[in-house]
Amino acid sequence: SAAEKGGYDYFMLKEIAEQPQAIADTLLGRLSERGEIVLDEVRLTDQDLRDVDKVFVIACGTSYHAGMVAKYAIEHWTRLPCEVELASEFRYRDPILDRSTLVIVISQSGETMDTLMALRHAKEQKARVLAICNTNGSTIPRESDAVLYTHGGPEIAVASTKAFLTQLVACYLIGLHLAQVRGVMYADEVAAVVSRLQRTPDDLRELLADMEDVRALARELKAAPTILFIGRHVGFPVALEGALKLKELAYMHAEGFAAGELKHGPISLIDDGTPVVCVVPSPAGRGVLRDKVVSNIQEVRARGARTIVIAEEGDDTVGAYADHLITVPRTPTLLAPLMTTVPLQILACEIAAARGHDVDQPRNLAKSVTVE
Ligand code: AGP
Repeated sequence: SAAEKGGYDYFMLKEIAEQPQAIADTLLGRLSERGEIVLDEVRLTDQDLRDVDKVFVIACGTSYHAGMVAKYAIEHWTRLPCEVELASEFRYRDPILDRSTLVIVISQSGETMDTLMALRHAKEQKARVLAICNTNGSTIPRESDAVLYTHGGPEIAVASTKAFLTQLVACYLIGLHLAQVRGVMYADEVAAVVSRLQRTPDDLRELLADMEDVRALARELKAAPTILFIGRHVGFPVALEGALKLKELAYMHAEGFAAGELKHGPISLIDDGTPVVCVVPSPAGRGVLRDKVVSNIQEVRARGARTIVIAEEGDDTVGAYADHLITVPRTPTLLAPLMTTVPLQILACEIAAARGHDVDQPRNLAKSVTVE
């Protein structure tokens, strides 16, 4: 009913709007007054965490995209090797695991069969398994050695939105906690990231208040034969996520690419007017990355692409390459997916609605996939 949807047309829009609060709830009680990460409920001792020599992140779909972002953060902060893998592929390639491997499984529902089977395989190999989950008491956290609940609240729409952002926050907390316990990051370095994380709910509120242009753009793009998404670094999983949302909800062809891969094949897809959504990294800190994406944008534009550019506020020069510019609040590179994903969620939702589809219940899909 309309009341259940809190006045929104779809659960998906309600859940998108809930994201600032959901993130605040994920952070709640996980930070000490001194800005340190406290994950007491994760029943792994500091010694367990010091013994870890390798991390695997395993998940499906949108949760896998959160895992891809986690890889960048965990390797950067902890200097531990971290591999990310689709749950449905993991156990079939005989992965190398032992008791010093930390396996992080990510699942909103906690019931995804592919992820559960991967977790069982990891446990058979004696790895320690930590679940990131949104559903209390579900099977995946019950079978794991430890769990970090995201506390995002129930997600009803089939398309995952607030679960994704809260999974990212949980991954950041785990990465920072590991770095802190293992002595790789100083307390003040951890505290600096934490205080940026604490600001993201406000930044997101600001972003969500200003999505009218994205809605208008959705109406323009609703008949496009395909939409491509490009990004680099953590912008690459964001591109994949933007494309997945569009496929799942709008039943349109969409594909995400690592921007640097375009010239190795996919650039021949670009035709006059092909919409290409470009996720631009922050010019601060990693300016090289940003400039590389900008040259990829010029390449697609030179071949006729219509560019939809997602960039940070204050990136003054990128507008010259954008047919449509969407700006998001400034955020450190690793945390940027918390901002850049949101316009893509709205774009997919609005295109699907404009095409007359049931946004909350797309055809052929179930909220939790309990078969392999
Ligand atoms: C996301 O929009 C999808 N509906 C889907 O990819 C989902 O993320 C995937 O099935 C994993 O589900 P889980 O997080 O409940 O394990």
